[in-house]
Amino acid sequence: MDVVVIGAGVVGCTVAFELASAGRRVRVCDPRLPGGGASFASAGVLAPYVEGHESRPLRDLGRRSLAQYPAFVDRVAAAAGVPVAFRPVGTAEVATNDADITRLARSKATADAEGVTAHWLQGTAAREAEPALAAHAAGVLHIPMHAAVDVPALTAAAAVAARGLGAEFVQTAVRALAADGAGIAVATADGVHHAPQVVLATGAWSASLAPAGADPAPVRPIRGQLLHLAAAPDTLRHIVWGPDIYLVPWTSGTVFVGATSEDVGFDERTTAAGVAGLLTRASALVPALADATFVAARQGLRPGSPDDLPYVGPSAVVPGLFYACGHYRNGALLAPLTASLMAGLLAGDRSDPALAVLAPSRAGRL
Ligand code: GLY
Repeated sequence: MDVVVIGAGVVGCTVAFELASAGRRVRVCDPRLPGGGASFASAGVLAPYVEGHESRPLRDLGRRSLAQYPAFVDRVAAAAGVPVAFRPVGTAEVATNDADITRLARSKATADAEGVTAHWLQGTAAREAEPALAAHAAGVLHIPMHAAVDVPALTAAAAVAARGLGAEFVQTAVRALAADGAGIAVATADGVHHAPQVVLATGAWSASLAPAGADPAPVRPIRGQLLHLAAAPDTLRHIVWGPDIYLVPWTSGTVFVGATSEDVGFDERTTAAGVAGLLTRASALVPALADATFVAARQGLRPGSPDDLPYVGPSAVVPGLFYACGHYRNGALLAPLTASLMAGLLAGDRSDPALAVLAPSRAGRL
């Protein structure tokens, strides 16, 4: 075994896929089935210019990863032999008051300066672009390059594709990591796996696996609740981003409604208050959704980091240990870039300039 990947979410599975594609012998350990954590509660929004991306590094990383997406999805889907929906429908970010209009004018200026097409649409033009919007919508910022991906399908397909390339998936909880001279010992509920290289892709749980001599990765859970509604076909044309709410048009007229952002520890529940708040905000922005069929509520724990940037890179204190965690709101968006960076890193290539901003060592003895 060359590499143990700990974690079978969208990051762990896509990393395993890239490593297996590069001919590495990979074992993935997770107590859950692939995609059984936060990835299942992702609406798959790929939108570096709407997610509150105030930081230039995050926008640059997001734009780069989004550019990789179409070819990446095609590769994973072809290797797995299953379709993975990737929908380049664009975003319409809604302004409902003067403060929103000012903020969106700033976002447009940023997009313009960075070479990203963004259209500010007001009044009739906004309503023609997105007819279902409530009357109080004053305008929308339309960014055509944004997209959505079916994250549970991508995660499952990456796992199937990795397996087809020889990766093993072991459904077991990892208890501890320890340097063992020749590499790293991964102690699980079912025995110890030894590997020269280990990738920590354990999402919100990443702080619990610090080997002796290393600090815990400063990653903490931020719960997101997400609703799945069935609306009339073509209710929405774009991903609609509004005040404390986003709406993602999905297949057969269904819509994902996201998401809460809650600092409640490892509490993996959907709650009455969470669901009620999302429904109220969704139907305030798109009144037709009040008549939608309620399909399901999901939740996941986002892996929050103090600077909202993930940790992607080698440990500076434990040889052979690599971090791919702390992606916070951008696990889906940054998955292709993370996977390609990890494949390069584990082959000894540390030349990518993005690794400087992603370095785990910025957070202490990692
Ligand atoms: N990326 C969307 C969310 O975290 O809610």
